[in-house]
Amino acid sequence: MSQPRKKQNVRAGRVAGKIILVSGGASGMGAAHVTRLSEEGGTVYLADRDVERGKQLAAELAARQLDVRFVELDVTDETSWRAVASLITNEKGRLDVLIHNAGVLSLSSPEEATDEEWERTIAINQTGIFRGTRALMPLVRLGRSPSIINISSIFGLIGAAGYFAYMASKGAVTLMTKSMAATYGPEGIRCNSVHPGYISTPMLEQEMRGLPAGSAEAIHGQIPLRRFADPSEVSAAVLFLASDEASYVSGAEIVVDGGLLCCR
Ligand SMILES: NC(=O)c1ccc[n+]([C@@H]2O[C@H](COP(=O)([O-])OP(=O)(O)OC[C@H]3O[C@@H](n4cnc5c(N)ncnc54)[C@H](O)[C@@H]3O)[C@@H](O)[C@H]2O)c1
Repeated sequence: MSQPRKKQNVRAGRVAGKIILVSGGASGMGAAHVTRLSEEGGTVYLADRDVERGKQLAAELAARQLDVRFVELDVTDETSWRAVASLITNEKGRLDVLIHNAGVLSLSSPEEATDEEWERTIAINQTGIFRGTRALMPLVRLGRSPSIINISSIFGLIGAAGYFAYMASKGAVTLMTKSMAATYGPEGIRCNSVHPGYISTPMLEQEMRGLPAGSAEAIHGQIPLRRFADPSEVSAAVLFLASDEASYVSGAEIVVDGGLLCCR
């Protein structure tokens, strides 16, 4: 006699079954990526140094039956990355998608920037990717159709007045990604950079507070789509790169900027 079939908890979606880590997942675009990727069937580690916000978002998504767990991470700290690597090793034994999203803004020119501001910006935006990649590569190698996504910026592609340390860090992310694509491509690991334009997040609010009045309207006028973006519009590009639909996309710069750079 045939046994009644056990109901299996198989998730549907464009990244169903994938194990994913998003650094800086507690706020802004990171939070949008965590949300969308988990809605698309991924198991997502929301990694952030902001424990309160990270735990709260993870709990909200878990309450919707989405597979999200918070893990505390300071991307500048080697020990912190090692702890995350060891947790994922014990729980899952592999990592399919690594998203380096954590970042901070710096608006200063070379003469305005303090040593502390320079070092903090480089440590988080640039060195964080180095340390995180080094710590997690053994797990990514064991991943299924692995993909690494580094969040750079339009300011990793073009110049603007000020933003000195920020551009130094984001320009580095652009080329670090190409080095990673060339290094890990032969192992079937794809590496791409994403270059958001002006996206409505707490970081953009901070940026607008640091610019002269009327700047937001002036910037809108330079963007062909005439508006800032919702974070979910960047998540759509991240989702594509994380999914197997991007199976032949590596070393690419995916610009999500409402057309801003096409006019420069
Ligand atoms: N908002 C924009 O317009 C814009 C444009 C281009 C690129 N970006 C980039 O997109 C990424 C996300 O930016 P956002 O606008 O969502 O910013 P945000 O400030 O809303 O979120 C950044 C997140 O990173 C986390 N974080 C910062 N330092 C960390 C550290 N040391 N360790 C772990 N987590 C840390 C914060 O706690 C926060 O949750 C950043 O890399 C940013 O540079 C943003």
